[in-house]
Amino acid sequence: MSDIPSAKGFDSTLSLLRNPYGFIPDTCRALDTDLFATRILLQKTICMTGAAAAEVFYSEDKLVREGSMPGRIQKTLLGEGGVQGLDGEAHRHRKQMFMSLMGTERIAALQGISLHMLDNYAPDWAAADKIVLYGELREILTRAVCAWAGVPLPEAEAKTRTAQLTALFQDAGAVGLKHWRARLSRHSLERWAERIIGQVRDGSLQPQKENALHVIATWSDLNGELLTPKVAAVELLNVLRPTVAVSVFIVQAVHALHQYPHWVQKLKDDESRLEPFVQEVRRLYPFFPAVAARVKSAFEWRGYRFPEGCRVLLDLYGTNTDPRSWDAPQEFRPERFRDRAKNPYDFIPQGGGDHHLDHRCPGEWIAISQMKAFCGYFVNSIDYDVPDQDLELDTKELPPLPKTRFVMSDVRLKN
Ligand code: HEM
Repeated sequence: MSDIPSAKGFDSTLSLLRNPYGFIPDTCRALDTDLFATRILLQKTICMTGAAAAEVFYSEDKLVREGSMPGRIQKTLLGEGGVQGLDGEAHRHRKQMFMSLMGTERIAALQGISLHMLDNYAPDWAAADKIVLYGELREILTRAVCAWAGVPLPEAEAKTRTAQLTALFQDAGAVGLKHWRARLSRHSLERWAERIIGQVRDGSLQPQKENALHVIATWSDLNGELLTPKVAAVELLNVLRPTVAVSVFIVQAVHALHQYPHWVQKLKDDESRLEPFVQEVRRLYPFFPAVAARVKSAFEWRGYRFPEGCRVLLDLYGTNTDPRSWDAPQEFRPERFRDRAKNPYDFIPQGGGDHHLDHRCPGEWIAISQMKAFCGYFVNSIDYDVPDQDLELDTKELPPLPKTRFVMSDVRLKN
């Protein structure tokens, strides 16, 4: 058995922060390996990239999630006690709760509500000189997901809840003031969600049976008991927060329409191209750099020993752009998705493996459906200009967006 190749230096935290999407794949390439050992936040960590590594990462007998997430991410992005930190039977049971929300009709309902909201916003866009797309989308998606989930959102709270939900995913990885803004947002959102869950349980609020709020408030855990109010709140936010975060993918898709303008006409001509277009956005535009797990008990892979308890990071972005799986991986070529065989490990912007059994994101179909609907709207229902601005994605920020948040001007309604 040989030693896992090591990254240079004692600790790689700074290198990872400086280059969140390139650090793992670049180091692997430099060392000519799929995995290397280093320290992140002083903890021994094995970093891995590529489809073969993803397959190992998603083997439940080898890696587990309990205790794998840094505390600062739990206190902001994810919360404590949610599905992300469960393993085995407890995970599979809780995961069913999320999967039960993802039927085709429910996803179509969310799309319908969102398009209706877009229709309500568009006349105001047309009346304004310019709009900041990201801000508008986040507000539309907050309103849409609350309506869809059965969560009451008084008009006076819409902007505050939008800002708080955004802080969870946008400020989680930050340091200093922004990190504290994310913590405060989580605190306030959890109190809010707990209150609403309580109202469902005492009958003073009666969402429809198919609403996420109803499903979560009445879900029994493996022990046959309702989730505690705190855990139910964390899980409700596990639906609201990422659905608002799809605004990032939508801005990235609109960015791609601007960068590759011949795609505007292609999408107008044939709407079956929407799906490959948005898949290519999800592949090539960076979002989450990596996911974390811990070695359950020592095992060996390719002659390397993974010691029990060691943290393992799987590189998502580098796997999506791995030249062993993708021709010309840095080129934007939606056609590549036309007749590509599905592989659960080589295209993993929202995690890999199986949706029901593994930690793969249950919201993948929502992301795809929303991106398709919004792109369709932007090419078919409105015209707009993109004024001069710096559209470079700021990859120091997680998730990366243009600093301007994508300004549109002279929006015109088409019909
Ligand atoms: C898990 C990304 C949208 C709910 C994940 C994971 C990633 C991810 C990387 C972790 C996979 C792993 O640990 O192996 C994204 C991105 C999204 C998105 C980039 C687009 C903005 C959504 C939506 C929902 C959702 C719309 C729900 C409505 C969840 C949940 C988990 C999860 C509950 C935990 C699953 C588990 O631990 O079994 N997502 N997601 N996500 N996502 Fe998403």
